[in-house]
Amino acid sequence: MNDKRVTNTQNQAASRSSFSGKIGYVLAVAGSAVGLGNIWRFPYLAAKYGGGIFLLVYLILMLTFGYTLIVSETALGRMTKKSPVGAFHAFGKSVPFQFGGWVNAVIPMLIVPYYSVIGGWVLKYLFEYLRENASLLAADDYFTGFISAGADVEIWFLIFSAVVIFVIIAGVKRGVELISKVMMPLLVILAVIVAIYSMSRPGAMAGVKYFLIPNFENFSWMTVVAAMGQMFYSLSIAMGILYTFGSYMKQEVDIEKSTVQIEVFDTGIALLAGLMVIPAVFAFSGGEPESLQAGPSLMFITLPKVFDSMGLGTAAGIMFFLLVFLAALTSAVSLAESGVSTFEDQLGWSRAKACALMGAVIVLFGSVSALGFSVLDFVQPLGMTPLDFFDFLTNSIMMPVAAFCTCILIVRVAGIGRVIKEVELSSEFRRKKLYCFFLKYLAPVCIAIILASSIAGVLGWIVL
Ligand code: TRP
Repeated sequence: MNDKRVTNTQNQAASRSSFSGKIGYVLAVAGSAVGLGNIWRFPYLAAKYGGGIFLLVYLILMLTFGYTLIVSETALGRMTKKSPVGAFHAFGKSVPFQFGGWVNAVIPMLIVPYYSVIGGWVLKYLFEYLRENASLLAADDYFTGFISAGADVEIWFLIFSAVVIFVIIAGVKRGVELISKVMMPLLVILAVIVAIYSMSRPGAMAGVKYFLIPNFENFSWMTVVAAMGQMFYSLSIAMGILYTFGSYMKQEVDIEKSTVQIEVFDTGIALLAGLMVIPAVFAFSGGEPESLQAGPSLMFITLPKVFDSMGLGTAAGIMFFLLVFLAALTSAVSLAESGVSTFEDQLGWSRAKACALMGAVIVLFGSVSALGFSVLDFVQPLGMTPLDFFDFLTNSIMMPVAAFCTCILIVRVAGIGRVIKEVELSSEFRRKKLYCFFLKYLAPVCIAIILASSIAGVLGWIVL
């Protein structure tokens, strides 16, 4: 470590608050990692892209490529004490550095609008459960009717976004995080109960097998692409977030250990969600290929049927959608906050102005996504609904590019040695050799695969 860096770090440490203690760090990151990605997105992708084989590919990617990226981003953040744009700047000011920082920083701004649309769906379901409409929600075409009606989707989306912006403007982020930390264990308990119930229904075992046992016949190229996109999404990597978290991380926190804890926690919740939803698809919707292919609507179609048959439908529905709402809210707030602080730090804007712009972006892109199933259904970028398009653009195109920039920054500019040194400041780097191998050889291959397949998909060479 050179002297300049020491003084730099000390100066900034004075003005930059940090997470208290080790567990504080892990909880903060886990709180923002666990959200709709685990509960809504993971089960529908697993159902759609091959069940057990998707799960296997996901786990392998997470333990190799995902692990490498988490360690890298966190170490770069802690080393520079900056969020992504600043962290790239710390190594150079030319265009490639600008690009690397900004591509990371822009992704959360594009995710939060459509994330808020799904947040709105969750709120709508919560509201209907509160009105004791449990059996209405369990009806076969309830969900389709709801999203194709349009106005309702837009209203609930606006309500969800208003709560997000309110939390950020009123500065009650800490309070929300606290509530959600208390609620998180409840969510786990409820999910365990629902998963056990779901798995014990007649016919559900076929679903458990489909989800847990890899069947190589179900493998397709898209299994890898979808699993990789999901890994970025669920662990909040390749979008600058972990740079920011790393910049608040104290030097004594063990980067390697906290990475493993975050991965275990995040994957555990995703597995539970899978066990709630997929066996139920087999038990309640027959498990035919079409019902497994439902896509983004899967959780909203399947779970109300489970709750309805539980006998305690209303109570279970209220609890579940309330807890999911809180998990979604903390994630959406972190996403939006990341956008706001980029505007503040990089453009020197006031907080009010930054919040206003973030709000405008959410309302504009989010409305297109919300109404893409109804009045705006003629808007079909690349033949997708706007919601799928934003999801695809961020997860399958921009995140691999962002991950690539991080790898290049380390291998070509900062030097792997510096990252290793940073990790070793707090503890021995047990998987140092593996890390170097993954970073130099595996990461570029993974990134090339996902980018090439996405482009081939856009050009119509493969089916996305
Ligand atoms: N990981 C979050 C989830 O699973 C979603 C997410 C993606 C996120 N990027 C983020 C949350 C950045 C907070 C910050 O739902």
